[in-house]
Amino acid sequence: MNAPPFSASFQSELETLFRWRRDVRHFRTDPLPRALLDNLLQASCLAPSVGLSEPWRFVLVNDADRRSAIRSNFERCNAEALKGYEGDRAARYAALKLAGLNDAPHHVAVFCEKDPAQGRGLGRSTMPETTIWSAVMAIHTFWLAAVAAEVGLGWVSILDPDAVHHALDAEEGWEFVAYLCVGYPLEPSMTPELERTGWEQRNPERRVWITR
Ligand SMILES: Cc1cc2nc3c(=O)[nH]c(=O)nc-3n(C[C@H](O)[C@H](O)[C@H](O)COP(=O)(O)O)c2cc1C
Repeated sequence: MNAPPFSASFQSELETLFRWRRDVRHFRTDPLPRALLDNLLQASCLAPSVGLSEPWRFVLVNDADRRSAIRSNFERCNAEALKGYEGDRAARYAALKLAGLNDAPHHVAVFCEKDPAQGRGLGRSTMPETTIWSAVMAIHTFWLAAVAAEVGLGWVSILDPDAVHHALDAEEGWEFVAYLCVGYPLEPSMTPELERTGWEQRNPERRVWITR
């Protein structure tokens, strides 16, 4: 089968998609059609993985008590993180909204099976962490597929991973990677929210390549 031609207009739209991919923290509360959520998850499984191990494990967190445990976990960790800042930075940190946990209609926890039989260990002997990276690749694919469908995704990592593992009754051998809030964004934007709120900005030096 021949690879499909990707037109110049598609390539330009793809770049627009990359530019519009945002971390979303403000969501509408209406759920996605179930088929759409499934399609996005299916798309994420097209990601590359070390040795074709497909180590990502997606957990749809629908149970109210489990969601509430995750929210409490976030509140504890966020309060702890706030203590690491002083003065003006502390005030700015406190003003940031760092999770859409209250409004997002869908919560997706992503784990990585750290030593899966699938893939037969290929590529992992010197760098076992590549299974985690593979799970992150799937998350990024999910993120882009979501934006293309006008769906927002917010990555929450201000969490105690062991407590998440426990709250979600995750299997042994799974490592917590990310907690994703998913839903329709309230305020789509080209500019990262942390830039809009003056917390941090993109650095042009990160767009300079060195040669050796
Ligand atoms: C590994 C990872 C962890 C992140 N964790 C959080 C988080 O806990 N809370 C949050 O508000 N944003 C989190 N983000 C989102 C980043 O803050 C966001 O990607 C960054 O500010 C750039 O904005 P953009 O994604 O809209 O371009 C995370 C992003 C990544 C890649």
